[in-house]
Amino acid sequence: AAAEEPGPVRPLYHFTAERNFINDPNGLVVADGEYHLFYQHNPEGDRWGHMSWGHAVSRDLVRWQHLPIALRESGGIMAFSGSAVLDSTNTSGFGRGAMPPMVAIFTGDGLGKQTQNLAYSTDRGRTWTMYAKNPVLDIGSKEFRDPKVFYHHGTGRWIMATVLADQHKVRLWGSKDLKSWEKLSDFGPAGATGGVWECPELFSARVERATRMWQWVLKVDVNPGAPNGGSGGQYFVGEFDGKEFRPERKPDAPPLWIDGGKDFYAAQAWNDAPGEDPTWIGWMNNWQYANDIPTSPWRGAMTAPRRVRLRRTRDGHRLVQLPAESLRSLRGREMKLGPRPIPPGDIPLGGEGVEGTALEVAAAFRPGDCATVGLKVRTGEGEETVIGFDRKSGELFVDRTRSGKVAFSRDFPGRHAAKLPAGAADDVLFVYALIDATSVEVFADGGAVAMTDQIFPRPDSRGVSLFATGGTARLESLSAWPLRP
Ligand code: FRU
Repeated sequence: AAAEEPGPVRPLYHFTAERNFINDPNGLVVADGEYHLFYQHNPEGDRWGHMSWGHAVSRDLVRWQHLPIALRESGGIMAFSGSAVLDSTNTSGFGRGAMPPMVAIFTGDGLGKQTQNLAYSTDRGRTWTMYAKNPVLDIGSKEFRDPKVFYHHGTGRWIMATVLADQHKVRLWGSKDLKSWEKLSDFGPAGATGGVWECPELFSARVERATRMWQWVLKVDVNPGAPNGGSGGQYFVGEFDGKEFRPERKPDAPPLWIDGGKDFYAAQAWNDAPGEDPTWIGWMNNWQYANDIPTSPWRGAMTAPRRVRLRRTRDGHRLVQLPAESLRSLRGREMKLGPRPIPPGDIPLGGEGVEGTALEVAAAFRPGDCATVGLKVRTGEGEETVIGFDRKSGELFVDRTRSGKVAFSRDFPGRHAAKLPAGAADDVLFVYALIDATSVEVFADGGAVAMTDQIFPRPDSRGVSLFATGGTARLESLSAWPLRP
């Protein structure tokens, strides 16, 4: 059956599979100008199971072409999460002729354990062969997974980050040929340990406004134990010498969270991406309700791709994330609103052309003496998703309590808040929101705060309003762009 068009029900620019369940992004690698996105996928149903690697490619991170399933469950072993590299000097020997192999490194889950395995492709990721001598790593554990492999130039070898999920450890490995791996070091327990550790990621990122300043970021997800409940991602910043990761903060320092919403998990960055900054993408979901979200025939979506940098603060480095620039190619005609006071109450903007199910809004607010100020999006009869700033607490919040369908899980409705850096709203607060059929992603203070939340409003809930409570705030400027394919 033909998949229905993207539109108010299916996300317009967030990746979804044509049908069935998806979770983590896997195997992110750029080769020949193509961004590969593999993903955890159940080819047979719309709940988790039969995990395989689905596959899609894009040249701009926005428009995706679906390709056949790359790795399938076989012999009772599922293909769990992992990564992919382009082995351009054929260290693995999997290459054929001049074609460098693309190598996928994934967790095999089954027969009572989790092991790391290889598969390779010599036709640009279109067809895959399992390595005959799999697994390449077996420590006899049931909780050993999610290999992220990248090439470390400093030491001239491949590095693999894995988790010992129930021990709250990231174990690093090194290899010259992707086949034989030597243990390098363990990191953890540290930070948040309220649930299993999953999907480690390790890369260097540029420090904002500094030339030639790089720090390493080690990201590891936790399920459950995230601040809003269920699954979420935490990170550590520090040094990596090719062997060991050393965090700049004490291991018992309070955890740092990637996202203040409830739906950003299992992020992975593209290997070999052009440009200096890492770009990552997350699974826009939470294990508390991932199997129950009300969409069909697909279930699950990826977040917008985000560019990652670091910002130096008195208390160490912090992530700053902004949507990938290529998303701008979706913009229709800009709608601009001039400055105006926002007295207590709502000001619908439909009359000025600001509305829609897929749009980008950038607004500058002067909080004045209000209690809260912000935007309501995807408003309609009885429905609204509130994106606001709480002046007293200094927090950005997203309230999806009345965002549409919320009753499919008691863990879904709610209000999520994230603290802004001190001073971020002293004068003017910049808020930037990406709205799509089933989600809002909000960025503030240049990406120092990011909040990702799914919503399931009716297609005709298309309104956008300004609002304030407790006093009068001021809109300094607002630009909105309808987004279209
Ligand atoms: C994270 C995760 C991974 C695992 C995969 C299985 O969401 O639990 O740890 O490899 O999903 O689908």
